[in-house]
Amino acid sequence: MLKGLGSAVHLAHLLLSEALGPGGTAIDATAGNGCDTLFLARQVGPQGKVYAIDIQAGALAKTSLLLQKAGVLDRVILLHSSHEEMEQLVTAPVDAVIFNLGYLPGGDHNLVTTSETTARALRAALKMLKPEGRIGLVIYTGHPGGQEELAVVEGVASSLDVSLYRVVRLNFINRSAQAPVVIVIEKAGVGDENQPAAQNP
Ligand SMILES: C[S@@+](CC[C@H](N)C(=O)[O-])C[C@H]1O[C@@H](n2cnc3c(N)ncnc32)[C@H](O)[C@@H]1O
Repeated sequence: MLKGLGSAVHLAHLLLSEALGPGGTAIDATAGNGCDTLFLARQVGPQGKVYAIDIQAGALAKTSLLLQKAGVLDRVILLHSSHEEMEQLVTAPVDAVIFNLGYLPGGDHNLVTTSETTARALRAALKMLKPEGRIGLVIYTGHPGGQEELAVVEGVASSLDVSLYRVVRLNFINRSAQAPVVIVIEKAGVGDENQPAAQNP
């Protein structure tokens, strides 16, 4: 796996780490093999809580094993469901949410995240976020539907009220057009809202 600035997942983790500390609450919206859940579980520590969602029971089994080996399964709740249901499954508010989109590496490529469900889940996550909480999305565009999914996520993210949310997009500008994209959304803190436009053009 690529390290440092070459890894989209690493970049997403770096940007989420500022919003998620000991005792925090986080959602992994696409548990997969569990690498993102493991990162979140370590961030929140023994007093925190992580909800890891996946539509594939096999993915949750892999996640569970990884967490057990790392000794952090105690703070993770595994949810066999679709992430668009997160408002019904998790008590808000939460400090951080990660979406690592696409299909499970080494798994069935047909069981892939879709534009429609991702957009619904992202809107749910926005509602559930604490002030100063962050959502990180790692978006892959090389598979069928990937470019469309990126466009849909960008549509939702770029239309957010600038006085309520800060949004960044990270690109690998010397890699191919199919390199993954990272989008991070931060909810404004209490009292941060309504900055004059001149200070936040
Ligand atoms: C790129 S993988 C996630 C990688 C993972 N976070 C890891 O660390 O290994 C995408 C995952 O999203 C899951 N997925 C697809 N549609 C979903 C949905 N609607 N709700 C929740 N998970 C979904 C797939 O089953 C797959 O495991």
